[in-house]
Amino acid sequence: MKGKKIKKAKLDWGNLPFGYVKTDFNIRYVYKNGKWSKGKMSADVNITLNMAVPSLHYGQQAFEGLKAFETVDGKIAAFRPDENALRLQRSCKRIFIPPVPTDMFVDAVKRVVAANARFVPPHGTGASLYIRPLVIGTGARVGLGPADEYLFIVFVTPVGPYYKGGFKPVKALVVEEFDRTAPLGVGDCKVGGNYAAGLRGSEYGHDKGYPIVLYLDPKEKKFIDEFSTSNFIGIKGNTYISPESDTILPSITNKSLAVIAAEMGMAVEKRKVDIEEVAAFDEVGAVGTAAVITPISSIKYGDREFTFGAAGKVGPVSTKLYERLTKIQTGELEDTHGWLCGIKA
Ligand code: COI
Repeated sequence: MKGKKIKKAKLDWGNLPFGYVKTDFNIRYVYKNGKWSKGKMSADVNITLNMAVPSLHYGQQAFEGLKAFETVDGKIAAFRPDENALRLQRSCKRIFIPPVPTDMFVDAVKRVVAANARFVPPHGTGASLYIRPLVIGTGARVGLGPADEYLFIVFVTPVGPYYKGGFKPVKALVVEEFDRTAPLGVGDCKVGGNYAAGLRGSEYGHDKGYPIVLYLDPKEKKFIDEFSTSNFIGIKGNTYISPESDTILPSITNKSLAVIAAEMGMAVEKRKVDIEEVAAFDEVGAVGTAAVITPISSIKYGDREFTFGAAGKVGPVSTKLYERLTKIQTGELEDTHGWLCGIKA
């Protein structure tokens, strides 16, 4: 059955960057006196904060990233919001934020996407609606400690590919000069501090002509951790390999791709990956919500450069994985795992 016809916003859907576009509404919840309020839709893109809130000073905040799509039958669906809810709860626990319950999170996603239905990119444009939930400590205090009030907010913005050119190979650089996380730190949580810590390494890579940088484990600088924006995957023969590490984000895209790889008859391994091992990989990808799969054409490691596949070409396995995942997201392939969450606009 076709979805309801929605008059879409006037945007150049096929050429959207991964950027911010003002949409109609965001949804907000306040945590006060030990409980979360009901969600309130807001048309205001600004938030007013006391200057003494711990999210600004001590980084007490966590966030998420997920996407909604117009499916082939004209309906709208979000991809695995329940998984993002669980991941946000993990992040919150680590930095003493009261967890956002799963039903509240999923309901917030459904309501805010429905309210902004005209910004969900039309099917077939390759674009999607990026959903950014964030939770911040708002109760004013100056001494170090958790806030006693919080704001949970979800906004949306239509986006195109994260890296220029879309599904095209990019060069990566191993950065050993800066770490994005510490051995027993918060690298496995989606908190702003990890991304702030990674900015210097990304800039270092950009200056040398690398759009993406790869971090090794912060303890031994021997095993692969993750890219600046997303998880690492390697394809070696018929095996899908991703690093096991306590300092990387558990990527929902990676988890979904591993399921798809197994369905394609591949062996799936999650284990420590020595950087030296990439020399034997056939394909490498950077995988995450925003980027989906960014194929990696080469990795520069010290004086050496590991290259993957034919110059400028995306490997066959990455292509198949990318197509299967994006087709499930847009309803072109059957959603046998119940990953799509229908949204009534
Ligand atoms: C995502 O992939 O959703 C992220 O949050 C990564 C960010 C660098 C855009």
